[in-house]
Amino acid sequence: MANNTLSVTDNRTGKKYELPIEEGDVIRAADLRQIKVGKDDFGLMSYDPAFTNTASCRSRITFIDGDKGILRYRGYPIEELAEKSNYLEVAYLIVKGELPDREHYERWENNIKIHTMVHENIKKFMEGYRYDAHPMGMLLGTVGALSTFYPDANDIHDLESRRLQTRRLIGKMPTLAAFAYRHTKGLPYVYPDNDLSYTGNLLSMLFKMTELKYKPDPVLERALDVLFILHADHEQNCSANAMRAVGSSQPDPYACAAAAVAALYGPLHGGANEAAIRMLMEIGSVSNIPALLRKVKEGERRLMGFGHRVYKNYDPRAKILKEMAAQVFEVTGRNPLIDIAIELERIALQDEYFISHKLYPNVDFYSGIIYQAMGFPMTMFPVLFAIPRTSGWMAQWAEMVRDSEQKIARPRQIYVGEPIRHYSELASRPKPTQREDAVSEAI
Ligand code: SDX
Repeated sequence: MANNTLSVTDNRTGKKYELPIEEGDVIRAADLRQIKVGKDDFGLMSYDPAFTNTASCRSRITFIDGDKGILRYRGYPIEELAEKSNYLEVAYLIVKGELPDREHYERWENNIKIHTMVHENIKKFMEGYRYDAHPMGMLLGTVGALSTFYPDANDIHDLESRRLQTRRLIGKMPTLAAFAYRHTKGLPYVYPDNDLSYTGNLLSMLFKMTELKYKPDPVLERALDVLFILHADHEQNCSANAMRAVGSSQPDPYACAAAAVAALYGPLHGGANEAAIRMLMEIGSVSNIPALLRKVKEGERRLMGFGHRVYKNYDPRAKILKEMAAQVFEVTGRNPLIDIAIELERIALQDEYFISHKLYPNVDFYSGIIYQAMGFPMTMFPVLFAIPRTSGWMAQWAEMVRDSEQKIARPRQIYVGEPIRHYSELASRPKPTQREDAVSEAI
């Protein structure tokens, strides 16, 4: 058996080092610190902006093989879960690690339903937002505000408290999201209807008008459930990393989730579904696709909904959504943007730039087309991503809290600033020269 070590020679000193290669084919960055030139030397560091080749944790939740386009939650292929499961069952799987039996599923469903209401003060808090506030900005604020309603959530090392906060947040996210939507529409809030399913209740809180009881369309209710399954977790994505990094200083999980919502908001992450639909609307017709692709290849803009840090093959979620769109359109009517999206994908996947950069449609390329057909405004698309991802965030957070290897996340840096210099009196200071570095621009 070849010994699992990396032999390193520091050519500055001629010294040789044996670095252990651990399971997962990793070496510990801390093992580089022994490689020094002199005894006062700090030792070598690894430099990896945006962590493109750095594992931050060991996790049992989600497995992705980016080259093969594989996505599994706790070992179960996403294709099987999307076909046979429902979001609440998948949330249980992601949070607890196993599929529930009937008794545990029914208890879990009830435990989520009893947490769908929010404190009445949330409504007053929501009123403070402008009429045209972006719902993701409102969600960011209201999720953080939950931290002030549940001081018991600070006891993050208590298993029952972690379990309670997880049930609370999975239960309340649809309500906060719906309240934000209704605020932008100037409509009264609709309280949860616990007779309905998780997605049926969300549709009711969003779209119920004067009818006594909202009846969700079963096709749309199921489509939203599948969309939520596909968005439930995705290993160490930007927002999961935010959840873990903020969680590492041990605030309550609502504060961490607010940071995760903020990370998801960005157009390079969960905001891409909104950016992708705006891009398709801007294209407007298949005849305009070549002009857009030219701009993308000239580096003027990104093809939103394309590309992925991990997937260097087709995102399996995008494949499922592309097929599911037709079922939704049977109820909602065809969203003409799907024709532009399909033609854009066809042309891009034959183009050398996209082939060489391994750029394929990701989950955000088709989700917006479905959401738009279902009647959601574009600003709600990232919010519809945040709701299901809550189960993933809470699972990632709990795994971090329990991980004895984890401690407060505090990266090192490479200092490239000024050497020591001493204070000078105001009168004696020269005019600032036109300096190149960012500091002068920041002034
Ligand atoms: C999500 O991480 C996750 O798991 C996220 C997510 C989840 O479920 O949590 O899957 C959800 O966020 C999906 C991604 C949604 N974002 C978008 O669709 C925005 C458009 N995509 C890109 O901005 C980009 O592809 C990222 C952000 C998704 C990934 O970026 P990387 O891995 O940091 O890649 P990069 O920016 O370093 O690009 C590498 C090269 C560059 O070209 P060169 O400078 O090397 O010549 O690929 C090019 C980029 O210009 N490139 C693109 C592109 N994405 C990358 N060029 C045009 N259009 C794109 N979309």
